[in-house]
Amino acid sequence: MLSFNEDNLTDAVAARFDGCEDPRLKTIVQALVRHSHAFVKEVELTQDEWVKAIDFLTRTGQMCDDRRQEFILLSDVMGVSMLVDAINHRMPDGATETTVLGPFYLGEHRVTAHGTDIAAGVDGEPMYVEARVSAPDGRPLAGARVDIWHSDDDGFYDSQKGDGTEPSLRARFITDADGRFHFKSIVPSSYPIPHDGPVGQLLEATRRHPMRPAHVHFHVSAPGYETLVTHVFVAGDPWLDSDAVFGVKESLVADLVARDEPTYPDGTPAPGAWKLLHYDFGLKPLAARPAA
Ligand code: BEZ
Ligand code: FE
Repeated sequence: MLSFNEDNLTDAVAARFDGCEDPRLKTIVQALVRHSHAFVKEVELTQDEWVKAIDFLTRTGQMCDDRRQEFILLSDVMGVSMLVDAINHRMPDGATETTVLGPFYLGEHRVTAHGTDIAAGVDGEPMYVEARVSAPDGRPLAGARVDIWHSDDDGFYDSQKGDGTEPSLRARFITDADGRFHFKSIVPSSYPIPHDGPVGQLLEATRRHPMRPAHVHFHVSAPGYETLVTHVFVAGDPWLDSDAVFGVKESLVADLVARDEPTYPDGTPAPGAWKLLHYDFGLKPLAARPAA
């Protein structure tokens, strides 16, 4: 009879999956065995640490419900979400880089007229956003669906306030014949990711902060193109270099330009001082091969 020990156990467990008929599942589960065993060996995990790890994962699961996904948050702060994103979105020239979706996308955004103030009734510094959606060769994409959402001046999304009122700082625009759309809002604020659960405890125990730099989320889709999930970050934000979820890419940072003209670019009255955010998005054609 074979006795398992720390030298032969990994191979024995991996071999137990040899009969798996799904080749991809077999690859994944055998790699998981090898890497998890290598991790336990590298840190020489104690029995007490193993119990703590099980307790942490149990509490992470218990924190999850329809509105809270603590496992995705764990993946985010460990950089796993951005690694999966990077592997799956190798972009050709002219296509906008991607980043995490985050927990505040509701996917039920109302189609909104260009020029709408989506912050109506919410205090903050006025911001005018103008953007264009095109193919990598610069051809405008008319009729693209653009969902946007961002935090308020205090760093909260409407869905976090849970008061059941109208959506705010959240809308859907359909690009015009020239691939353009524009809207009015307020300048978003940096904010902490939800940190009142196990993931927050992990950050605190390891002396990491929970902050994300200010950004506007964009979810852009058009037939024949990969859906683009990204943010535009506000240049100069103090948290750009240490985003808690590693979501920042240089190409996604844009200047908010201070303006004082009495009218916005669409000719409607402006409040005195306001900020202009301009960004052009490129979508990757579905057929494009990833760069080698
Ligand atoms: C967000 O940007 O909304 C977000 C992303 C990842 C974790 C938490 C929040
Ligand atoms: Fe966000």
